[in-house]
Amino acid sequence: MTVNIPLKQVVDNSYDISIDALPSLYFDTKVAIVTNPTVSKLHLKFLLSRVSAKELHVIVVPDGEEYKNQTSIDIILESMFEHRFNRKSMLIAFGGGVIGDMTGYASSIYQRGIDFIQIPTTLLSQVDASVGGKTGMNNKYGKNLIGAFHQPKAVYIDSYFLTTLPSREFGAGIAEIVKMAVTFNKGFFEFLERADLKDSEVLQDCIKQAVQTKASVVAKDEKEHGIRAALNYGHTFGHVIENETKYKKYLHGEAVAIGIVMANETSLKMGFMDLKTVDRIKKLLEKYNLPTKYNILDIENFYETFYLDKKSSDTKITFILALGLGNVKITDECDKKLIISVLNKFGNK
Ligand code: NAD
Ligand code: GLY
Repeated sequence: MTVNIPLKQVVDNSYDISIDALPSLYFDTKVAIVTNPTVSKLHLKFLLSRVSAKELHVIVVPDGEEYKNQTSIDIILESMFEHRFNRKSMLIAFGGGVIGDMTGYASSIYQRGIDFIQIPTTLLSQVDASVGGKTGMNNKYGKNLIGAFHQPKAVYIDSYFLTTLPSREFGAGIAEIVKMAVTFNKGFFEFLERADLKDSEVLQDCIKQAVQTKASVVAKDEKEHGIRAALNYGHTFGHVIENETKYKKYLHGEAVAIGIVMANETSLKMGFMDLKTVDRIKKLLEKYNLPTKYNILDIENFYETFYLDKKSSDTKITFILALGLGNVKITDECDKKLIISVLNKFGNK
């Protein structure tokens, strides 16, 4: 016999993203702020002047992508058990994308899932990582291979935090912004060409447009069954560059910037983008001091590394290619010869 469990249900995971000065927040429950020593030193005092709760704790995990792992997750979970957190308790992610992804993941598994909110403090996490509910950690097999979709209850984006962000980290966030503009929002791309992001109002407007663009993609495809994968534009090439340079030479956003240039060369060869647009995108990346050149030492090896990408299968590599500005195509039908000819433009100089 067969027993069927009728579980079809519509779940409302909607939430608001505030892009404004951080308001005062009070939570009538146990809350822990998860952060790292860098962010804590710079901004915890300010956060504590805004956030209060029935019981408020601070959990500090080490700073860095190399600590986005099970050990840090255990630090967070153990602290929650020690403070007897229950299913109504809550976490606040206070830091960049590393803290945001780990805090979200810890909250997705603590007693099978509790609420969390995001207070992102890097440009990259304000425009990308804090929005959309991808949470997780790394292991020895690769980046973000363990995780869950777990949407925050709210996101509070205050550009004040960016005043202390090192300029390379700022640039890394710009690469993700350019990614969203090229693939989904031509008007936003044109805005970025004109924009002076040193002006705080312009920066605020930029963050707003990036978040609106990402939010509209997530709203269409929350769990990445289709179009959300297009947010990986530039990443297929970028991940190989990070892998080849052992995650040491480039920040993720910097590798993505080079990856965007490589993806556009592919679009050019496929007839999806004209040379003028290829040059405009490169110029925009260079406006923010992002790298656009790369010297591939072993082209065959670079190509083979594409197969490690999460989007690829054993036999097919998935590429995300922009179709001019504001449109994008996800394809696993790029001929190897064509890709090698693109890679040759970056090789053996
Ligand atoms: P990060 O979290 O490592 O932060 C970069 C550095 O900036 C860190 O040293 C951090 O301590 C420091 N920092 C943070 N805020 C600061 C501030 N206001 N002033 C000075 N220094 C500050 O890196 P990131 O670029 O924010 O995020 C990268 C991570 O995000 C990766 O792990 C990536 O996988 C993840 N990510 C997730 C998503 C998603 O959808 N969940 C999307 C993109 C990236
Ligand atoms: N950063 C890609 C995504 O959120 O889907």
